[in-house]
Amino acid sequence: MASRIKLLVLDTPEAVAQHVAGQFVSLVRDRPGAVLGLATGSTPERSYAEIVRLSKAERVSFAGVHAFNLDEYHGIACEHPQSYRTYMNRHLFDHLDVRPWNTYVLNGAAADVDAECASFEAKIKACGGIDLWLLGIGTNGHVAFNEPGSPADSRTRKVALAESTLASNADGRFFKTPAEVPPHALTAGVGTVLDARRLLLVAIGAKKAEIVAKAVKGPKTPDVPASLLQDHADCTFVLDKAAAERI
Ligand code: F6R
Repeated sequence: MASRIKLLVLDTPEAVAQHVAGQFVSLVRDRPGAVLGLATGSTPERSYAEIVRLSKAERVSFAGVHAFNLDEYHGIACEHPQSYRTYMNRHLFDHLDVRPWNTYVLNGAAADVDAECASFEAKIKACGGIDLWLLGIGTNGHVAFNEPGSPADSRTRKVALAESTLASNADGRFFKTPAEVPPHALTAGVGTVLDARRLLLVAIGAKKAEIVAKAVKGPKTPDVPASLLQDHADCTFVLDKAAAERI
């Protein structure tokens, strides 16, 4: 089957953030009990700031929303300054009226990792599945922490991070050296992500251009996990011009 990925190329990172925020805020306006999927990393920071601004400007309440995050580092406490729970609280949850108990970020410090991953999948099911999941893409093609080699039917589990991921997350944005980055993570699987009713993958900047092109029009292969999104019925890549230049 040919790639079903839809492309939306916008002039600037700001325009990308405005589009993403518009999609989330209008979903929640129309469906106050929406089930959201969220991501961390540098790319969504602008989108989260814009969701906060727009939801306040348009008086859209997130009080009925459930939100699930893609992943979390293994072996660090929720309170760690670089945990994805801390990131989400800082960039989004603390600024919305979403109920903290309806936000689900995997617990990287869970004593029983398998039970933690199974309960994450069960909670998504109990909420009726994810309406819209925001995704980023790693320069190695990972989606969530599904590193190259992750199959399309993978579910939430503990994974080892690729060397390239350790290096990217140690470039000073989040950690200073690869040795500081936790080597394992808990991540929603490719299959978990593909179950969402709608996907928005966001990429910004020239350093994502090559992998974005491979994901959109290259062969569908676990070597480029983002290429496995090609079969999804409603997946849009929202790109700035620089990230789209190799397609
Ligand atoms: C984050 C995640 C990762 C990032 C990807 C891109 O929750 O799952 O897949 O989306 O590593 O990160 P940035 O946006 O920092 O380039």
